[in-house]
Amino acid sequence: MITINATSELRAQVDIWRRGGNVAFVPTMGNLHAGHLSLVREARKLADRVVVSIFVNPMQFAEGEDFDKYPRTLERDSEMLEGEGTDLLFAPSVDVMYPKPQAEQTRVEVPGISDVLCGVCRPGHFVGVATVVCKLFNMVQPDVAVFGKKDFQQLMVIRRMVEDLAMPVRIVGAETLRESDGLAMSSRNGYLTSDERAIAPVLYRVLTGIATKLKEGDTNLAGLQSTAAQELLDSGLRPDYVAIRRARDLAEPNDDDRDLVILAAAYLGKARLIDNLEVSR
Ligand code: PAF
Repeated sequence: MITINATSELRAQVDIWRRGGNVAFVPTMGNLHAGHLSLVREARKLADRVVVSIFVNPMQFAEGEDFDKYPRTLERDSEMLEGEGTDLLFAPSVDVMYPKPQAEQTRVEVPGISDVLCGVCRPGHFVGVATVVCKLFNMVQPDVAVFGKKDFQQLMVIRRMVEDLAMPVRIVGAETLRESDGLAMSSRNGYLTSDERAIAPVLYRVLTGIATKLKEGDTNLAGLQSTAAQELLDSGLRPDYVAIRRARDLAEPNDDDRDLVILAAAYLGKARLIDNLEVSR
């Protein structure tokens, strides 16, 4: 595996590979776990070469969020990626990604889809995500990019950006990997104490409970959402939201919408956990 920090070297290498084949890309913020490695394996199936980036993007963290304490584990991550047969690790510094002060940096805004759910709780977050992913796409120039479905809204923001800006990249969503008790794998699970870790699977249980009710024909979505939020509170989580939305655009569903997604975000101690479950009724 080649490790590169500079854009010019990255471009030169990817350029050679793209002459004889195609390139898949997995953007990450590092502190890798089995969920990330499953994205790399998915990428391997889709292309001749796999590029992974590790960059903790300051632009997607608000004041007071966990940017400073987000774990930087480059050496360990690098070994894990090598073990999965990654061809190139791109690990730029903040100065390479953002040579100008943030206030002067061009931004990418994806209105609508960015303004609900996590976009309300974390203002500016999706501008930071869209900007860095747009920039990474321009740097790496991949044929295909793989994102986890755990960040369901993020995946939709990226898909919309790619469509609206006619970017020549195919976006693939990969299934969420779960621990044996159902907890979605996430770098932020590392913030949980052992007591909190024992409580955390409640989030997924609440989602599966709603999915069962929807499949049984329950149409009282507001009731399902508020009961679920109360269940989270009773278990010691502090929900930002529990929402049942239309899967294709995250709008509030009409009675005849069949394909839905249940999304939730909740704090448990210092960790903000998110999860979702697609359901057809
Ligand atoms: O999902 C993530 O890890 C990040 O939001 C991403 C897509 C790498 C952009 O910084």
